[in-house]
Amino acid sequence: MNQPRMGGIAAVNAPAYVKQQKLISWVAEVAALTKPDQIYWCDGSQAEYDRLCSDMVAAGTMKKLNQEKRPNSYLACSDPSDVARVEDRTFICSAKKEDAGPTNNWTDPAEMRHTLHGLFDGCMRGRTMYVVPFSMGPLGSPIAHIGVELSDSPYVAVNMRIMTRMGKAVCDVLGSDGEFVPCVHSVGAPLAAGQKDVAWPCNPTKYIVHYPETREIWSYGSGYGGNALLGKKCFALRIASTMGRDQGWLAEHMLILGVEAPAVNGKPGKKHYVAAAFPSACGKTNFAMLIPPAGFEGWKVTTIGDDIAWIKPGADGRLYAINPEAGYFGVAPGTNDKTNRNCMASMRDNTIFTNVALTDDGDVWWEGMSSTAPEHLIDWQGKDWTPAIAKETGAKAAHPNSRFTVAATQNPVIDAAWDDPAGVPISAFIFGGRRSTTVPLVTEARNWVEGVYMAATMGSETTAAAVGQQGVVRRDPFAMLPFTGYNMSDYFQHWLTMGEKLAALGKQNNVELPKIFCVNWFRTGADGKFVWPGFGDNMRVLKWMLDRLEGGQTGGVEHLFGVTPRYADLSWEGLNFSEEQFDRITAIDKAAWKAETALHTELFDKLKYHLPQELAEVKLALEKQLAD
Ligand code: OXD
Ligand code: MN
Repeated sequence: MNQPRMGGIAAVNAPAYVKQQKLISWVAEVAALTKPDQIYWCDGSQAEYDRLCSDMVAAGTMKKLNQEKRPNSYLACSDPSDVARVEDRTFICSAKKEDAGPTNNWTDPAEMRHTLHGLFDGCMRGRTMYVVPFSMGPLGSPIAHIGVELSDSPYVAVNMRIMTRMGKAVCDVLGSDGEFVPCVHSVGAPLAAGQKDVAWPCNPTKYIVHYPETREIWSYGSGYGGNALLGKKCFALRIASTMGRDQGWLAEHMLILGVEAPAVNGKPGKKHYVAAAFPSACGKTNFAMLIPPAGFEGWKVTTIGDDIAWIKPGADGRLYAINPEAGYFGVAPGTNDKTNRNCMASMRDNTIFTNVALTDDGDVWWEGMSSTAPEHLIDWQGKDWTPAIAKETGAKAAHPNSRFTVAATQNPVIDAAWDDPAGVPISAFIFGGRRSTTVPLVTEARNWVEGVYMAATMGSETTAAAVGQQGVVRRDPFAMLPFTGYNMSDYFQHWLTMGEKLAALGKQNNVELPKIFCVNWFRTGADGKFVWPGFGDNMRVLKWMLDRLEGGQTGGVEHLFGVTPRYADLSWEGLNFSEEQFDRITAIDKAAWKAETALHTELFDKLKYHLPQELAEVKLALEKQLAD
């Protein structure tokens, strides 16, 4: 790691396996601006990961957990000001403002470059710049793309090793002229000579900046999650969505799961893959690892991905999806053996925890991990925590957006095809928001355009995944509000165009378009509690969707805006759920829907530039039916 400095500039010292001059020159250029003490190229090996983690333990950034209870695992606690994605500091700096659209923050790229140049000048002084080559997607897959992140955070380097395919193998695929998305990240906390570092360096000034035309990412001031692990939201969603628009594919905030029916007469049951979009912290990881409940013996659910899907059309008119990530950066609170046993098993070892609480015997704990809290903990801010203190002050032991980072390969229900470079064929899309009222348990769109309308107008109550007020309903089209890297109306149009192209291709090959469903697990009763049990019981809804895929138009009724199951259309074996409860979460209240469509109108007014006419027409038809 100790590389010589030449004339006050850190030597680039690219390893011999790096064959690309453009990459080496760019690293040198960024180093000349940011002025790190040294440059370190990550090879992605276990030895390197172990060394960086133990350096961070020595520096106080991480604690090593009890080796017996949680082998090879660490706890990092961030600065209290740096705990979530900062949507109001996230910018799409396209050449034209209208290309970023009204849902993104925009600044003229030249002005932003000027601002960032000032901030990045010397921002890595006293630190090491890590060169992190990464592949989003299986190495060499035609659906995958490569990025290189330059970061002054070793925490970022080790998390990127879990979350992506990272290191030397990526440079091999990149070769001498492969393309990569350049990503520059700094915590924005240079160190003067002899200055002691803090455990979690960051800067109150934050900028998460994307230049869609040149496909560049610059992130300053935060070391947390999607602000800093630039492969995730910045590349795999914001930049990738613009690549998808230009190249005819989709980059989506979706989990991908495989669901297989029980074997019949020794023959494996029919298997489908579905992709599901939910806003942050609305249970994507739980759905992706669902354990079928009692009454569903023989059914299997397997995970391809839990957060992001890259989906490209095949020549046969099907859509093929990969998970561009290689790990999970999931929300810890609420995860337990009942809500997600597979996830708990995934993080039994080799896990990085961030902002959860530390137990007295060196393990981790978070709200909801067990029904009774330990008698004493060190909370995520390093303070003593007891149930009595919590009762008095309301202090949380773990931050509500605390996370675990764990490799996908640790998941006991990982799908056999999760790493398949060809991707898996998608049979259906599911869109879901967190709505305590109005939106029924499940609705099937009657056609692609209606499905796009449902996804485009989706609302959801905000969560702790982003800084800001929680629990307020906001429109979150396709669960992509914070992640679409271009104009939202153009994004809707892209979905419509994809549908048209696929339908034409599918016709030649006798392939149907994927069905589109809209779900809501979160309706509450008079007591304010969720009525639907959710988690494993979501299998009941999933099975209805498969029945619809397999059985055509059976098992549902058509209503105002789609098709929903009747009580008798779902399988209730193993669950005591009355018809009255079912009515509570499926009832369509006309007055509530009139208010809801008024919010659609508000959204469409905001998005009127380039809003596809087809969507305006679906709204008109819905309004007409509501008025009748
Ligand atoms: C995430 C998010 O971290 O959506 O996945 O915030
Ligand atoms: Mn997410």
